Amino acid sequence: MNTFGYFDDTNREFVINNPATPFPWINYLGNEDFFGLISNTAGGYAFYKDAKFRRITRYQYNDVPMDNGGRYFYINDDGTVWNPGWKPCKTPLDSYECRHGLNYTRITGVKNGIKASVLFFVPLNTWAEVQKLTIENTTGKKKSIKLFTYTEWCLWNAATDMENFQRNLSTGEVEIEGGTIYHKTEYKERRNHYAFYAVTNTDVNGYDTDRETFVGLYNELSQPQCVMNGKSTNSLAHGWSPIASHYFEITLEPGEKRDLIFLLGYVENDHNEKFSTEDIRRKRNGEIISSQNSDVTLVNKEKAHKMINRFSNVKAVDDAFTELKSMWDKLLSVFVVNSGDERLDRMVNIWNQYQCMITFNFSRSASFFESGVGRGMGFRDSNQDLVGFVHQIPARARQRIIDIASTQFPDGGCYHQYQPLTKRGNNDIGGGFNDDPCWLIFGTVAYIKESGDLSILNEMVPFDNQPGSEVTLMEHLKISFDHVVNNLGPHKLPLIGRADWNDCLNLNCFSWDPNESFQTTENKSEGSKAESIMIAGLFVFCGKQYVELCKHINNFEEADRAQLYIDNMIDAVKQFGWDGEWFLRAYDFFGNKIGTKENDEGKIFIESQGFCTMAGIGLEDGMVDSALDACKRHLDTPHGMVLNNPAFTKYYVEMGEISSYPAGYKENAGIFCHNNPWVIIGETVARRGNDAWSHYTKICPAWIQDQLLHKVEPYVYCQMVAGKDAAKPGEGKNSWLTGTAAWNWLAITQYILGIKPTFDGLEIDPCIPSSMREYKIRRVYQNAIFDISVKNPNGRQSGIKQITVDGTPVTGNIIKAEPGHHLVEVLM
Ligand code: GLC
Ligand code: GLC
Repeated sequence: MNTFGYFDDTNREFVINNPATPFPWINYLGNEDFFGLISNTAGGYAFYKDAKFRRITRYQYNDVPMDNGGRYFYINDDGTVWNPGWKPCKTPLDSYECRHGLNYTRITGVKNGIKASVLFFVPLNTWAEVQKLTIENTTGKKKSIKLFTYTEWCLWNAATDMENFQRNLSTGEVEIEGGTIYHKTEYKERRNHYAFYAVTNTDVNGYDTDRETFVGLYNELSQPQCVMNGKSTNSLAHGWSPIASHYFEITLEPGEKRDLIFLLGYVENDHNEKFSTEDIRRKRNGEIISSQNSDVTLVNKEKAHKMINRFSNVKAVDDAFTELKSMWDKLLSVFVVNSGDERLDRMVNIWNQYQCMITFNFSRSASFFESGVGRGMGFRDSNQDLVGFVHQIPARARQRIIDIASTQFPDGGCYHQYQPLTKRGNNDIGGGFNDDPCWLIFGTVAYIKESGDLSILNEMVPFDNQPGSEVTLMEHLKISFDHVVNNLGPHKLPLIGRADWNDCLNLNCFSWDPNESFQTTENKSEGSKAESIMIAGLFVFCGKQYVELCKHINNFEEADRAQLYIDNMIDAVKQFGWDGEWFLRAYDFFGNKIGTKENDEGKIFIESQGFCTMAGIGLEDGMVDSALDACKRHLDTPHGMVLNNPAFTKYYVEMGEISSYPAGYKENAGIFCHNNPWVIIGETVARRGNDAWSHYTKICPAWIQDQLLHKVEPYVYCQMVAGKDAAKPGEGKNSWLTGTAAWNWLAITQYILGIKPTFDGLEIDPCIPSSMREYKIRRVYQNAIFDISVKNPNGRQSGIKQITVDGTPVTGNIIKAEPGHHLVEVLM
């Protein structure tokens, strides 16, 4: 089989041993304020908090060759020029390895007896990326090499950086102080931040800061002029494109090894402390070099100096790295499965949890498929992401819930997205996605069930971030629920608005103008009858949780009121949302059915099957089983279930973007991995463990065999895998930032392995394949540590005979979170 790498579970790493992966395989650095994306050839970029407004280094998207721009180290060894990460020179290496670990990456290249290994990571609570380069002469002879670093600055706003060249090519400014290159474009006016790239533990022999001088106007990054000439020029950036490159002449004795520490950092200064008068004198002495003649705009470097000093020795760097690793040890100790199947264990114990943290942090902003300039934090996306993360750091999930709820409107509707830097709703996208409000209930309930913290319900949360408009979060949940109730269509099913979960089912858009956005255009909505059965299922699924919550806080009146609406919705689905064998998807503007066997294309859709079965609608009438069978018959493929079938082959103006995609891609019959777990969970509602498992393993990265076909990273879920109508079924795209991570986490941990937080404790309710005869789980839950051992001697798929906690049988299947360490034995 085609492989480019393998899992190293002991070190929690994925090891890439061929740099020419079928697509750049990336990793994420940093997890609070300062972030980096890094590919297996050291491509990628860094940013502070917001990938659009505070981009620190520049990246060329979708370029030729692929993956240009990054943190590059060039070695000129007697005329042979190479990079430890293979790119950009692509000089064949004697050996290459990239280890992507949890928030760090280590890339090692060997050429002609020189071994260069770079560890990249962002230390905890630090606004900087550390790059520790270890360079070793493995030969028996003395060697002299020239080493150059290279990184290109982005002019902060990543969007205008890519388009406003009449300005950009005149604004670049830098300062140089020894081995530190400061990027200070726009600092003299409104910005109070700058970036720097420093070598902290050795002197430089030169530098360059002007791209054209370093690379050469008609050269490529594979042959930068200075590197080829074996000498830097100490160039100064004046406008054009500022870069940072250090130059070293290094001699290594046989067997000698040296560590060089680099720091790519970001600093903010108060407005009245932006400039340094002390540096005027140092500039006159030649200690500081500035691209501007003016003395009064020299940056105040105090905070940069502090960071540089802190990481000026190997021990400090190694300690910071150990600290990062311990953080992950701790995060991953909350849920540990030991199943005997290494694929399942590595997904659950390492990669799925890691991906959940990444999607929680980044939402859909920055990946190699999301440019970081387009999308802010999604209301629906972030609520889903937090359920995959909440067990790790509940306090951060709590904060996120408040931030999200603060962008809601008084009628329960909400901005579809907000910008992480300002936390304000995004006016360009607006609202009107009628599934959005339900997700706030979903996220909040998950938080409370994990943490037991009911106090969040009393937090005062504004509308649209307007001071003075605050009501309790509980009130926000109520209006979220009521937003559905208040927006019902002719069949008493929820009106869809601009779209529901499926951004591409645009039933009020009617667009013939290619310059219109499908997401923000509503050409027709007056008199619209467009209703969503997906929202109906979502409403029942989340509504039941809302009722449970109301009862838990003794608000029985509200629980009864809400239950009535849920019952009505279930009736409406049964009466108007059932097609005989499966659930309909929607009614269009005119009231015509979508997702019915009466149609030629798009007869069946996954979303309504997923949500209605998860909600258990019609379980007693056989609807759930029937819908799940239909998914198997019409949607399933060897790579997972497609979103709809048959795919749309022409444009249907009344359906919008969904029919704009070629058949088999994205929302048009792609395997949209995100909603596969909905059906998996539906299978557990129907108690069909074998089917749940079969669906689970089809999209689970650890089961991927052909890494060439799959194309994108084999250690994380991607949003979409090409469906059966596509040119290459099984080819993945849009990896990393997808709700797939959180949903699969829920599916496997809560519904298949069956360890589910509730308001009263941990519920144990496995729904597993009959071949799974036993497994063990460690679950840290509130103040308790549970060591749970499940035995399934008779090969059942569900059902529990007995549970004992510390030897004592319990009634029911909920175990209380009593403080301390408990042994739980479960017999199926
Ligand atoms: C993308 C969006 C998500 C949407 C899905 C389906 O993944 O991030 O919000 O639900 O596409 O259109
Ligand atoms: C496109 C994509 C969809 C995504 C949306 C976000 O419609 O197909 O997946 O959610 O853009 O704007």
